[in-house]
Amino acid sequence: MRKLAAGNWKMNGMTASIAEARAVSIAHPNPSVDILLCPPATLLSRMAESLANSSVALGAQDCHPAACGAHTGDIAASMLVEGGASAIIVGHSERRADHGEGDATVKAKAEAAIAAGVVAIVCIGETLEEREAGRTLDVTRAQIAGSLPAGATAANTVVAYEPVWAIGTGKVATPEQIAEVHADLRATLAGLVSDASEMRLLYGGSVKAANAAEIFALGNVDGALVGGASLTADNFNPIIDALEAAASASS
Ligand code: PGA
Repeated sequence: MRKLAAGNWKMNGMTASIAEARAVSIAHPNPSVDILLCPPATLLSRMAESLANSSVALGAQDCHPAACGAHTGDIAASMLVEGGASAIIVGHSERRADHGEGDATVKAKAEAAIAAGVVAIVCIGETLEEREAGRTLDVTRAQIAGSLPAGATAANTVVAYEPVWAIGTGKVATPEQIAEVHADLRATLAGLVSDASEMRLLYGGSVKAANAAEIFALGNVDGALVGGASLTADNFNPIIDALEAAASASS
């Protein structure tokens, strides 16, 4: 399968940031991995124009589950697709925490993304409290079972494991912790979809140039969902390079 380096800009990025995305594409004109940047919705269509025919695909960070209607402030998946998104992140822990989104909502959003014709990137991950209570795999199994969209396939769904305590904290999970959860996810997915071995499993949580190679060398890690380190080309480019190196080592 093709590995995926995905960047989530969260609530960061103004017009000037489009140049960062362009610098990523210029540094990787013909990448051996998929590159995706998920800017705030306000930048999406301008970035799509700026990055047309480039190696960098664009995604969105959330969508509403409904196709359209009276939902002030929300954005439908089809609108994001028209704006240039080829993937939509759903269920990020910041949305689960800030907006009270549970698995059923995340599942509905993922289904809306797929119905709009794009890839759903479904995020799951345990809190520190859950990990310390020894409940990590219970939590990730329940989240995957509850959040995976109906009709999920390796072509329309990506799963991102992001331990909540590792996001934006500089605290990366250990290789053992990542490998354990990813192996368990792969096994759990095998009971839920027919092409689990082909479904991309991303790790997210304080991925940066300094730790990327070690993470990408792990089994069942098919890429990363990167927050802070995806905001500049200087930080994101070496992560993409590390993923390309891992892809060529495993092929
Ligand atoms: P981080 O964010 O890389 O800044 O920790 C990861 C994410 O939330 O996707």
